[in-house]
Amino acid sequence: MLRPSTPADPSARPAPDLLAPAAATAAGPHRWWRDAVIYQVYVRSFQDSDGNGIGDLAGVRTRLPYLKRLGVDGIWLNPFYTSPQHDHGYDVADYCSVDPRMGTLDDFDRLAEDCRLLGLKLILDIVPNHCSSEHPWFREALQAAPGSSERALFHFADGRGERGEEPPNNWRAMFGGPAWSRVREADGTWGQWYLHLFTPEQPDLNWRRPEVAAEFERILRFWLDRGADGFRIDVAAGLHKHPDLPDSPDPDADERTRDSVNPLAWNQPEVHQVWRHWRAICEEYTARDGRDRLLVGEASVPTAAEQAAYLRPDELHQAFFFHLLHAPWDAAHFHRVIDDAVRDIATTGSTVTWVLNNHDQVRTTTRFAAGDPVRGAARARAAALLMLALPGAAYLYQGEELGLPEVDDLPDEVLTDPIYHRTGSRTGIRDGCRIPLPWSGPQPPFGFGPHDGPQPWLPQPAYFAAHTAERALTDTASSWHLYREALHLRRVLPQLGEGPLRWLEAPPGVLAFTRGDGLLCAVNFGDQAAPAPVDGEPLLASGPCPAGTLPPATAAWWMRAAITPPGASV
Ligand code: GLC
Repeated sequence: MLRPSTPADPSARPAPDLLAPAAATAAGPHRWWRDAVIYQVYVRSFQDSDGNGIGDLAGVRTRLPYLKRLGVDGIWLNPFYTSPQHDHGYDVADYCSVDPRMGTLDDFDRLAEDCRLLGLKLILDIVPNHCSSEHPWFREALQAAPGSSERALFHFADGRGERGEEPPNNWRAMFGGPAWSRVREADGTWGQWYLHLFTPEQPDLNWRRPEVAAEFERILRFWLDRGADGFRIDVAAGLHKHPDLPDSPDPDADERTRDSVNPLAWNQPEVHQVWRHWRAICEEYTARDGRDRLLVGEASVPTAAEQAAYLRPDELHQAFFFHLLHAPWDAAHFHRVIDDAVRDIATTGSTVTWVLNNHDQVRTTTRFAAGDPVRGAARARAAALLMLALPGAAYLYQGEELGLPEVDDLPDEVLTDPIYHRTGSRTGIRDGCRIPLPWSGPQPPFGFGPHDGPQPWLPQPAYFAAHTAERALTDTASSWHLYREALHLRRVLPQLGEGPLRWLEAPPGVLAFTRGDGLLCAVNFGDQAAPAPVDGEPLLASGPCPAGTLPPATAAWWMRAAITPPGASV
């Protein structure tokens, strides 16, 4: 994940006038992804149509009208390919298939067709850094001899120590333990080691081999030919490793930070060739049918400025900007990361890709709660309204529109996250944000699957009854209606989406900015009510706003033909 590049005190900096880069907006027709709002579907937990306790593609298809009503521009599907599910699909055994527990290729085709009919973009998740230990390539590599062309597709190496009993270097895996596992050779003796930056069931591919690049080109074309509008790229700063695989001076860094920070394992210059190649493939399809394709990377590099290198005009279209997702509930912090993002990404001609929640992080309702769930829910709503007022694209994670909290009291025996099983610790585990969605009814499975089927793969707490989509739709004060209204306004107001952001002077603990020439967004991060920055009723607010005030943990949008609040700093 990204960390802030300039931890400077924002009050020491002049209020910026953050104009979107003219070159990017002036060139050619509007490209849909630049300010799209994409809804992340964690397929396992979205909708189970066949009653096996696991969500599936046919289930996603039945809920497309719900997503259309919500008003998103498209969906990103987490991996649904054939996989032993050691990391819930991020361990892919066959990239051109659907895991039988999640459906069939026919289901995919029907889903793609319905997305097209409904005008929803369809983004798939592609996992190029590693495959599954059950992928045919890896099975063949295990059978083949050291030094073989089969082993060359991965990172196999002899161990250190007299009998090769020590790993080839000191790197640790992101999810705990050494980044190397030792194999038994065909004769049953202990042999070479292979590299896995995540779990042992996720061997890293060797991107210095042309066969790997060729295979992924085939995979991309397979899904583009089947109607995909683009790809979310897993671990996009991975792929290449330092060619000598030397020891790291800080071997625990990745495990300690749960972040890709080992400079020998991530962010190698060669990776940019891959993105240029993939971009060229996308452009080829666009030239053929006029449909713009998208590459959005999970490119976790130390600074926003380094991320910009991934967004050069011939590389990725976008990359998630995780600073916001890691920001504590603090006005100065939010101010700083928004400035960093808009400034650094604007230089690339791309747009910022904002994200507050995803399948790897504690949900905002719990993250911002500081022990008080009511406060957490209010802050999460306010943060969403803030994010949706920022220039660029935004990704929503399923259930955030229902105000779902993190389920942080799951019993140990139901936990499935490899982080828990490899570290023995609950720190950073991700099951709690992946609980199957509550759609309707008073008790589990809340419409996630049939009542008479097996229980969902993770248990849903009884209190999810208060968070079902059914209830949210009938309650006009629900988070669902807030998101829907905000998304509607993004569509109809030209001030939102791409375009300039100007900060306004505001009381301590309040952020206020204008978009374009008529929309003002203000957020109160404090614990006391603040004066509203302008008179009049808000166009939209994350909570009740008595006249003239902006209550704590509340965001609001105002719209005027021309806003000229007192004290504007620009
Ligand atoms: C990414 C995914 C995460 C997965 C990891 C390994 O960070 O978001 O869920 O475990 O990559 O593929």
